[in-house]
Amino acid sequence: MAELKRRAAVLISGRGSNLGALIAAARHPAYPAELALVLSNKADAAGLDRAREAGIATAVVESRPFGRDRAGFEAVMQARLDEAGIELIALAGFMRVLTEDFVTRWSGRMLNIHPSLLPAFPGLDTHARALAAGVRLHGCTVHFVTPGVDEGPVIAQAAVPVLPEDDEPALAARVLAQEHRIYPAALAWAASGAARLEEGRVVLDRPMAEGAFVNPLPGPPGLPTEMA
Ligand code: GRF
Repeated sequence: MAELKRRAAVLISGRGSNLGALIAAARHPAYPAELALVLSNKADAAGLDRAREAGIATAVVESRPFGRDRAGFEAVMQARLDEAGIELIALAGFMRVLTEDFVTRWSGRMLNIHPSLLPAFPGLDTHARALAAGVRLHGCTVHFVTPGVDEGPVIAQAAVPVLPEDDEPALAARVLAQEHRIYPAALAWAASGAARLEEGRVVLDRPMAEGAFVNPLPGPPGLPTEMA
């Protein structure tokens, strides 16, 4: 008998390309999570259309009317999550900072994707900041959510090279392609128990990659050619 799928909600505020990647992955019969709800804090979020097209239940809880009353907003959101029997949350471009209460309630059961190699570049405008800093590697991170914004324990990361001709859109697109690879995987691991939060650290029942990703590429081994 197939194991029961965990009921997951995806929380969005915008275009929902990561949601699209999660929807595609979750179509696989063996995927351990079912996307049971897509919840947006904006009624005009384009991602809502992706959810509707995929036949996934949607909910809109507008955050704006609540102003600074974050707890009030979250209480309504929590009610929607409860009604849908949600066990796991994936934040995917959800542009609201959550209270410590809400985050604690979902500890070990709420994931976020962030467009940088955390702990580098938490917050906004990560690609512009990576370009300004002159880093040679950039990327994305999936982490469990903790009260500190973009500070949670890391589940998975993907690195991409920063190229000399890169501008913000080019670098963002290269990173986004990797977001769409690692988020469906990380959500699956969290749903199956292969990634779990134990005493503030992520325990992973996964093989780890070996080797190194170097940018720019060194030349053939040996001096002086390698440094030529
Ligand atoms: C992504 O870059 C994600 O890393 C960040 O917000 C963006 C959302 O994009 N948290 P999309 O709505 O999934 O296309």
